[in-house]
Amino acid sequence: MRQFTEDTLTDAVVARLKATKNPRLREIMTSLVRHLHAFAKDVQLTEEEWFEGIKFLTAVGQKCDDKRQEFILLSDVLGLSMMTVAINHKTDPGATEATVLGPFFAHGAKEFGYGGDLREGATLKGEDVWVAGRVTSIDGKPIPGAMLDIWQAKADGIYDLQTEGEFELRGRVKANAKGEYAFASYKPKFYSIPIDGPVGDMVNATTKNHMRPAHMHAIVSAPGYQQVITHVFVDGDPHLESDAVYAVKNSLVSKYKKMSDAEARKVGLPSGSFKVEFDFKLSPQSGVKARKKIAASDTVGA
Ligand code: BEZ
Ligand code: FE
Repeated sequence: MRQFTEDTLTDAVVARLKATKNPRLREIMTSLVRHLHAFAKDVQLTEEEWFEGIKFLTAVGQKCDDKRQEFILLSDVLGLSMMTVAINHKTDPGATEATVLGPFFAHGAKEFGYGGDLREGATLKGEDVWVAGRVTSIDGKPIPGAMLDIWQAKADGIYDLQTEGEFELRGRVKANAKGEYAFASYKPKFYSIPIDGPVGDMVNATTKNHMRPAHMHAIVSAPGYQQVITHVFVDGDPHLESDAVYAVKNSLVSKYKKMSDAEARKVGLPSGSFKVEFDFKLSPQSGVKARKKIAASDTVGA
């Protein structure tokens, strides 16, 4: 057959896809075509709307460069990133829950030992915080030398990657021989996802929901354990219920408490500083299906 109608076109495309050698690619393309066609029929897509969609996706691509990943942002606000995390990361009971990577992870951050100062070189001051805890297995065994890749926005809610400057408020923090980690940083603040591009235009035209609750990002890894890509959120943040990218997990919300003067002095921070304690618990490599490790090619700026 060479001539198709609204009723026969989907099956015709799917039939051609049977030639696809890679079975997984065939499965994905077949499902994608069926859903795309069903969507077009469902909304009775007009040609003008189809072209608007093409222009939108073109603009999303044009907004991407070696520092900006507008497609990840699009996936995030559509909930696709968190859906993929949920499908692929069925957490072992007791393990730290995973959440979105987001578009601002970068390889090559400076390495710090126990007690490192991630505020080094920061161009903006924030509220000082001592972040500390342990990295353990799900049954509570310390994991010596576990690596925590930490990144967060500056005090103005902008990530270093969004500006021309050097790396700021990010570092690879190595846990000590007892699996304990600690570092100084600034208390995270809520911020807006980047809305100066096509994804921002889409958000403004639809949900207007562009705020992220305050958080720091962490990727925690250790040999023999599954890497976890996660956040630590600030308890009490006004945007916890309305995260633009649906990434909040109750188990990741932590209390940032004021330290006593003596406590602050002991860790070399000024009086009035905060502390937060958060333990990361990793699943064994052989546990519930592992999420693929972050590879150099997976992120912007790599
Ligand atoms: C972030 O937390 O860095 C982020 C995540 C998703 C979209 C935008 C920013
Ligand atoms: Fe973030």
